Amino acid sequence: MSIPDIIIAIDGYSSTGKSSFAKIIANEFSFLYLDSGALYRGVTLFAIENGFISDDNTIDVPGLTLALEDLDLHFGEGGTYIGERCIESEIRGLGVAGKVSPIATVPQVRDYVDRKLREFGSAKRIVMDGRDIGTTVFPEAELKLFMTADPLVRAQRRADEMKAKGDEADLDAVLKNLQERDYIDSHRETSPLTQAPDAIVLDNSHMTMEQQLEWLKDVIAERFGE
Ligand code: DC
Repeated sequence: MSIPDIIIAIDGYSSTGKSSFAKIIANEFSFLYLDSGALYRGVTLFAIENGFISDDNTIDVPGLTLALEDLDLHFGEGGTYIGERCIESEIRGLGVAGKVSPIATVPQVRDYVDRKLREFGSAKRIVMDGRDIGTTVFPEAELKLFMTADPLVRAQRRADEMKAKGDEADLDAVLKNLQERDYIDSHRETSPLTQAPDAIVLDNSHMTMEQQLEWLKDVIAERFGE
């Protein structure tokens, strides 16, 4: 099916399959996929490696804000980069996962990431996933999805993903991390995770990827005609 030049914003809870779904949408409709969480994860890795966040998650906000002025975080071949260095595998581990939500509460970090994300907006035909894409980054997006699923289903999916990569995954620890992130993401002051009033909810607890794509095609046909 054909689809007009639009921005598709996908927000929702952690591990609801937002990025997997966004990649499939990008592939199906020849859209550019952008993973906003990867940029928050990249800033987090940078903060850890440069001592801007402590073991108890205290953040040196002035130090980090200053350092962001020179941080060359970008997307490239195979994922996310700092300068020439591909950081795709480092940003997916539990070390970064445990600190990314506190880092993402810092307004200066959000400004930094928002600026990078909006640069892509003029391209249209993009699908971007995150927590505040339909509410803050692209409130004008023509199609907004809000994804959710049962927390235990999400934890199991995330643990399976980690095991498939050869990482250790304790289901209880994964569930705890996920619930903590949901809480912080939904309760922070700046751009909390909320459903945009014009977003369509997709609860995929018991849906396969094929079913989700069929669902989306129906939504698109209804909204934009074929
Ligand atoms: O989508 P993800 O799990 O890779 O996101 C990692 C963290 O980044 C998540 O806990 C919250 C934060 N995030 C955010 O605050 N806003 C976004 N648009 C995307 C991610």
